[in-house]
Amino acid sequence: MKKPIFKSILSRFRKQESKKNAAQKPGRVPYDTKTYQLNRETCDLKSKLIYSKSGKRPKSIECLVFTPEEILEKSRGYLNLLTGKTKLTKKRKQQIIRMTLENFENFYNRGFLIYRKSVAEAADFAALEWDGQGSLMRDLLGRTFIDCLGGYGIYNMGMCHPKIIAAVEAQLKRMPLSSQELLDPWRGALAELLAGLAPGNLQECFFINNGTDAVEGSLKLARLYTKKVGFISAVNGFHGKSMGSLSVMGKHVYRRPFEPLLPHVHFVPFGDTTALEQEFKKLSTVGEDIAALILEPVQGEAGAIVPPDDYLRRARELCTEHGVLLILDEVQTGFGRTGKIFACEHWNVVPDIMCLGKSIGGGVMPLSAFISNRRIWKVMEENPFIHSSTFGGNPLACAAGIAAINVMLEEKLADQAAEKGEYFMKHLHEFKDRFPDILRDVHGLGLLIGMDFATNETGYQVAAGLFRRRVLVAGTLISARTIRIEPALNISKHLIDEVLDRLEDCLKEVSRQYKKTGQYKSS
Ligand SMILES: Cc1ncc(COP(=O)(O)O)c(C=O)c1O
Repeated sequence: MKKPIFKSILSRFRKQESKKNAAQKPGRVPYDTKTYQLNRETCDLKSKLIYSKSGKRPKSIECLVFTPEEILEKSRGYLNLLTGKTKLTKKRKQQIIRMTLENFENFYNRGFLIYRKSVAEAADFAALEWDGQGSLMRDLLGRTFIDCLGGYGIYNMGMCHPKIIAAVEAQLKRMPLSSQELLDPWRGALAELLAGLAPGNLQECFFINNGTDAVEGSLKLARLYTKKVGFISAVNGFHGKSMGSLSVMGKHVYRRPFEPLLPHVHFVPFGDTTALEQEFKKLSTVGEDIAALILEPVQGEAGAIVPPDDYLRRARELCTEHGVLLILDEVQTGFGRTGKIFACEHWNVVPDIMCLGKSIGGGVMPLSAFISNRRIWKVMEENPFIHSSTFGGNPLACAAGIAAINVMLEEKLADQAAEKGEYFMKHLHEFKDRFPDILRDVHGLGLLIGMDFATNETGYQVAAGLFRRRVLVAGTLISARTIRIEPALNISKHLIDEVLDRLEDCLKEVSRQYKKTGQYKSS
C-alpha cells in the first residue's frame, strides 16, 4: 500500500499539467530551478531596497509549481551546500543570498524581510548568517559582527562553545533521539545537576524545548497541585506565545488577536509592592481562588526592568500567606545572565516553581525546563504521562545542557556577567549624560541591559547604526524604544571596548541629526 505522502505527491504530479497552464496566467510565474530565479522583480536586489525604504513589496507570486523531480533536485542542491560539497564562489554566495530572500518572500513569511536589519541595513547584499564563534559571527560574505544580542539570550556561553559542541557531537553519533521506552541516562544526569544548582528545595523537573512550553508546564503544575484556576501576572511581563503562557503575558498587541485566553488572570504593575498587596487582598476578599503568581525576577522583554529591592521578597511572603504558588520565570534571567546563576538569588527568594530556557541548552540545542519541590511534584507521579512530550529532554539537548552547566561553572560566567555588566553600565551612564537628547535611561542587572531612547525611531536608528558598524543589538518585544545589550557572558573586555567605541560613534551621528533637524528621524 502506498504511504499517504507518496499519494499526495502523486496527486500533485497528476495536477501538474493543469497547474502549469494556470502558471502562465498573469500573476503566476513558473519556477526556474536552474538559476533559482523566480522573477527578476522579486529576486533582484532592487526589491530588497524597496522593502527597506518604503515597506512596499514587489508583486507577489500567487502560486508556484514544483514537480517531485524538481523538489528532489532542490533538496540535492541544499544538501550539497549544507555538507560543504558545493564550492562557494563569490557568485554562488550572492546567488544563495538571493535564493534565501526569495524563499522567505514566497514560502516563509515575507513580513520578516521588512523587519530584519540584516535585510534593510546590509548595503548591497542582505546578511545571511553563516558561522560564529564566541562573540563573533560571520555572514556568508565574510562580514564579521560583534554579537551584543546573544541570540536574545541563548548565547550566555557564546556561539559554538567547543565543549558544548563536542558533547552534542558525541551523542549525535551515538543516539540523537530517545527510544522513549528505555531509560535515557543524560536526562537523569542533567536533572541531578539542575537540582544541585537550583535554589532552596527545588529538586524535580521536566524538560522541554522552549521557554513558552516551560511556562505552559508550570501553569499546569500549579493548577494540578492547588486545584485552583486563577493566576496573577505582571503588566508587560513576557512569558511566551502559546495559549497558556500568552494568557499570563502582559502586552495587548500579542494577546488581543487570540482572545479569549485563559480566564481568571489578573495583572499588577511590575515592581509595585503596594499594588501587589492590594491585589492579593482584593482577590481574597471577593473569593477568587488563585493558583499562582508568575513573575520574571527582572523583566527581560519589557526592557531589562529591575524591581525595587523588597519586591520579590514581599511577593514570596504574600504567596505563602495566601496559599498561592510563586512561579519565577528565569527563562531569560537564568544561567548567569544577571550576575548570579539565577536572578532570584539576588534577593534570596526561593520560588515554588522555576522556569528555565534559552541558555540552558548552551546555545547549541533547544532546551527548557520547569523545576519544583518534592511536595508539589508529587502530583505528577501518579500519572507521569499527564504532562509529556516526544522531544522534550532528548539526548542531544541533555548533552548540551550538561556541558552548558559545566562551562557556566568552570568559566564562572555569573561572576563575569556581574563584573562586565558593571563596566558596561558605567560607560553607558556616561553616554546618557553626554547624549541626553536621545539616550534617556540605562538600566539592568549583570549583562541584561536596556538603553531607553527618546522615541521608537531613535531606538531603531541607533540599532540600525550599530548594525552598519557591525554590532548586533536589538529592541525588545515589549518596548520598541528600548535597545537591549545582552552579549555572551564571556565576551572579552577588548570586544566590549570596541562595542562602546562604535556605540559612541553611532550616538554622535544620531545626536547630530537630531540637533540639525530638531526632530527624531523616522526610519
Ligand atoms: C522570560 C521569558 N519567558 C518565556 C519566553 C519564551 O521563550 P521561547 O521564545 O523560547 O518560547 C521568553 C522569551 O523571550 C522570555 O524572555
